[in-house]
Amino acid sequence: MITNRTFTMIKPDAVSDRHIGGITQMIEAAGFRIVASKLTKLSEERAGQFYEVHAARPFYNDLKTYMSSGAIVAMILEKDNAVADFRKLIGATNPANAEDGTIRKKYAKSLEANAIHGSDSDENAAIESNFFFSRTEQF
Ligand code: CMP
Repeated sequence: MITNRTFTMIKPDAVSDRHIGGITQMIEAAGFRIVASKLTKLSEERAGQFYEVHAARPFYNDLKTYMSSGAIVAMILEKDNAVADFRKLIGATNPANAEDGTIRKKYAKSLEANAIHGSDSDENAAIESNFFFSRTEQF
């Protein structure tokens, strides 16, 4: 099991608002190394597969529509304690609860359009990384 990597996605709102640079700068300044990176767009079906774990939740349909509404940036990041440290850096899911200095405090617009995703466990980091990247795309 990989324990020093996490997966992230810069979401459609942040990409269309031209915050790729600002968010990436915060990620690198916090000590993460970018191991893989891809600007791409999810179909509604692929967005549904990525968020399959939330299929029973009332926000699932809206989430699929939103996550397929524009380009996203998928990245794999490396750092000691990557999953937990990255969750700290992005802040609470709802930006209303995000602490000062976090990515969501600075860039998130709403609970849904919350600028960035971060894996919640080492296991999901590996699953989510493999969803977007082959081994040969990871450095
Ligand atoms: P993320 O961390 O990517 O995981 C699931 C996403 O669903 C979440 O960020 C939000 O963008 C979105 N979402 C919308 N409504 C909710 C909700 N009520 N609770 C949690 N996540 C939500």
